[in-house]
Amino acid sequence: MDVYEAIKTRRSTRKFKKEPVARDALEKIVEAGRLAPCGGNSQSTRFIVIQNGEALREIAELACNAFARMEITDNMYKSMLSIVKACKKGFFAFHYDAPVLIVLANKIGYGNAMADSVCAAMNMMLEANELDLGSCYINSLHWLTEEPTVREYLTKLGLGEDETVCASVAFGTADTTDGLPNRNQRKITGNPVNYID
Ligand SMILES: Cc1cc2nc3c(=O)[nH]c(=O)nc-3n(C[C@H](O)[C@H](O)[C@H](O)COP(=O)(O)O)c2cc1C
Repeated sequence: MDVYEAIKTRRSTRKFKKEPVARDALEKIVEAGRLAPCGGNSQSTRFIVIQNGEALREIAELACNAFARMEITDNMYKSMLSIVKACKKGFFAFHYDAPVLIVLANKIGYGNAMADSVCAAMNMMLEANELDLGSCYINSLHWLTEEPTVREYLTKLGLGEDETVCASVAFGTADTTDGLPNRNQRKITGNPVNYID
């Protein structure tokens, strides 16, 4: 798969098979993230690669409980509102029960923290597509990075005191008949372009 093909056919996967991701594939994905460009070549993005089932369940439960405790406000971002509502109703696994979740953290106060982490996330999602694996960018842990129970748990998994969660990405085999992720190209109606020739 060439790069443009990987870009054109990458779509978010939100239903995963339980099967683990092979170690060599996972390492390739992580390396793709580590090779991403970063401001001033800072290389300060931390990759917390969680594939332990108990840890995934625990973090999903802590996150869901934290969302359930949130007060719904008028100006709440619509994606956050839907997850808060789902968690108030019962258990909702923010990572869609994917077998792997990679949490991307970076230094608190570093101006390129988010940009660096998102470059890494994108590289990893494209590499996953090349390897026939599904992926989904997930904001939940970024929203909960200051929430004490989530933060304490992530600290146990290696999050530094001076670090903040920028993003996370779920990975795994898509739960489709052929096991391949949905690759139907999305219709782009926004993203205006101005060519100044
Ligand atoms: C910054 C960002 C945050 C996102 N957060 C979530 C999320 O928390 N949960 C989720 O299911 N998808 C999330 N997504 C995935 C988007 O919903 C998805 O990329 C978009 O709908 C386009 O669909 P596609 O990825 O299939 O092309 C996020 C994507 C980005 C870039």
